[in-house]
Amino acid sequence: MGVLDGKVAVVTGGTSGIGARTATLFAAEGARVVIAGRRTEEGEKLAAEFGGTFVRTDVSVEADVEALIAHAVERYGRLDVLVNNAGDPGAGGSVADADLARFEQTFAVHLGGVLTGMKYASRVMLGQESGSIINIASTTARLGGWAGLGYSAAKAAVIQLTRGAAVELGEHGIRVNSISPGPILTGIFAKGAGMDAAEADRTAAAMESAFTAALEIYQPIHRAGTPDDVAQAALWLAGDGSAFVNGHDLAVDGGISAGRPASVALAERAKLAKAFADLRG
Ligand SMILES: NC(=O)c1ccc[n+]([C@@H]2O[C@H](COP(=O)([O-])OP(=O)(O)OC[C@H]3O[C@@H](n4cnc5c(N)ncnc54)[C@H](OP(=O)(O)O)[C@@H]3O)[C@@H](O)[C@H]2O)c1
Repeated sequence: MGVLDGKVAVVTGGTSGIGARTATLFAAEGARVVIAGRRTEEGEKLAAEFGGTFVRTDVSVEADVEALIAHAVERYGRLDVLVNNAGDPGAGGSVADADLARFEQTFAVHLGGVLTGMKYASRVMLGQESGSIINIASTTARLGGWAGLGYSAAKAAVIQLTRGAAVELGEHGIRVNSISPGPILTGIFAKGAGMDAAEADRTAAAMESAFTAALEIYQPIHRAGTPDDVAQAALWLAGDGSAFVNGHDLAVDGGISAGRPASVALAERAKLAKAFADLRG
């Protein structure tokens, strides 16, 4: 028996990375899954692999999101889970050089996509008086210096949008939660650096040792986060095991948001103690 037997799920940004792994895991756990993204070839190939369907969708276009949700309901008769996962590297740059058009586009994808997803999914879920909506935010919503300004600000807004939706929809049996992943081994970083999307997805796993080394002083669990780490959290939030969890932001970040590793803090303290000792002579 699967955790999601009988449920229907939509996963946006399902053509690669976290979304692709989430969709595959949900299908393996019994859900009928619709994935969405802009790359038709990748989407159709993956959907065929796990026995679901793909709908070409740009989440910054409201009509696309409306059609995506309508497809799921027409095809499977209901909607139990929506994972608002689609996202791109978004706007970066310094404050003084901020490009407002790029900011608006970043907000249209990361925040507008989440809002319209919830808008059309909630209309279906309200009729059923049940459902679970999972919005993918980020550790960068709370920490400066880890991602571009626009991306981080949009992710912070996703967490607050989640809370607002949770208190409204929770009264009608619909749970709304977010997940804040830390750095996860996917192609999003290479895409942000300008690499072709397919190549970025293909080469993501090869970055594992560089990732682990770069995170050593920040992340208490010393390994790179994987799409499966996030997918497993999404599975729990999607299933009935989390039936009393609503309005929560779940960190899946190896402890980055809890603080730096104790070994790093101890080494820093030892350095300071030595500096004091040297001062005294
Ligand atoms: N990797 C990390 O370290 C990390 C950390 C925290 C949060 N996140 C978040 O996790 C989510 C998934 O990212 P990922 O790391 O798995 O990267 P990824 O492999 O690049 O996946 C991003 C997905 O979003 C889709 N997408 C991008 N723009 C879209 C748009 N306008 N409309 C529809 N789909 C769009 C992409 O598909 P198409 O190209 O086919 O459109 C792709 O399926 C994103 O929201 C990201 O911000 C990632």
